[in-house]
Amino acid sequence: MPYILAIESSCDDTSAAVIFNNKILANVIANQQIHELYGGVVPELASRAHQQHIIPVVDTALKNAGIKREQLDAIAFTKGPGLLGSLLVGCSFAKTFALSLNIPLIAVDHLEAHILSHFIKDTDEQLIPEFPFLCLLVSGGHTQIILMKDHFNMEIIGQTIDDAAGEAFDKAAKIMSLPYPGGPLVDKFAREGNPLAFSFPEPNIAGLNFSFSGLKTSFLYFIRDQLKLNPGFIDDHKNDLCASIQHVIVNVLMKKLMKAAVQTGVTQLAIAGGVSANSALRSRLQTSCDEKGYQAFIPKFEYSTDNAAMIAIAAYYKFLKQDFAELNASPYARK
Ligand code: KG4
Ligand code: ZN
Repeated sequence: MPYILAIESSCDDTSAAVIFNNKILANVIANQQIHELYGGVVPELASRAHQQHIIPVVDTALKNAGIKREQLDAIAFTKGPGLLGSLLVGCSFAKTFALSLNIPLIAVDHLEAHILSHFIKDTDEQLIPEFPFLCLLVSGGHTQIILMKDHFNMEIIGQTIDDAAGEAFDKAAKIMSLPYPGGPLVDKFAREGNPLAFSFPEPNIAGLNFSFSGLKTSFLYFIRDQLKLNPGFIDDHKNDLCASIQHVIVNVLMKKLMKAAVQTGVTQLAIAGGVSANSALRSRLQTSCDEKGYQAFIPKFEYSTDNAAMIAIAAYYKFLKQDFAELNASPYARK
């Protein structure tokens, strides 16, 4: 019956969560607004902001959970992949805290945690996936279809050969001069737009792999040509442009996920990672699964984008296996 404090600091969100078994007691996130000014995450500024946020965020998480630090049974942190300077802040904090409380340290992989967020049980009625299930992991840096055989036994059966889906959203947004990160804004404007207003070619990639760089280029060229005819083209058609590019990205993702289901015979389909917050992807997964009689697993909105609750649930399963990290554990930027 462990209480675990988990810390996530892989990119530009500083987050701390407290879990008791598989129930989240607190999940606190401090976002870093500073990067908006630069159109992307500036690693050096991200590390400094983590340094400023980490103690207040942990303090608030413990208060919100209503527990004292002496009640904790383990401290978990994200070991990677991510920005090294950012990861080091969370890792060093976790080590120091674990050492001072004389409790075990747990190192968690960020991508595994995104998927394992489906095992958080906020209510007793909530369904969690059974093994095997398929997970479409779509974030700012990754796009993978993963066959989940057990909590820590996963096989990547498809992945992007260039840009990630989140990057495709963010780059399309940048082309339209929307601020970073553009994904949530594309989603917002798309709600008022026509997804069939403009068509862009879907990449034709073999098997279960993805490619998004060609789509970005055709979007860029299309806008460049239209701006020559009408300098106000983006403003005049923002909603339709967002809805149309989102439609293609979601189409590509869903086609491959459904293909993976047919190939593997697995009928429980989950989505995870920042792009799983996308409203069109969420509703397409649900309707596609309903049509086929499959089961859809859609994460709660707050567990889609980066958060420490997902690190906490992964840490819980590692705690059960007594899979603890050494005090010389060091983070990695790439897997
Ligand atoms: O998982 P995440 O928070 O961080 C990484 O591990 O990369 O994912 C961030 C990505 C960004 O590319 C962001 O634009 C995208 O997720 N994203 C969205 C939405 N919310 C976040 N993309 C489309 N629609 C959204 N609603
Ligand atoms: Zn992430």
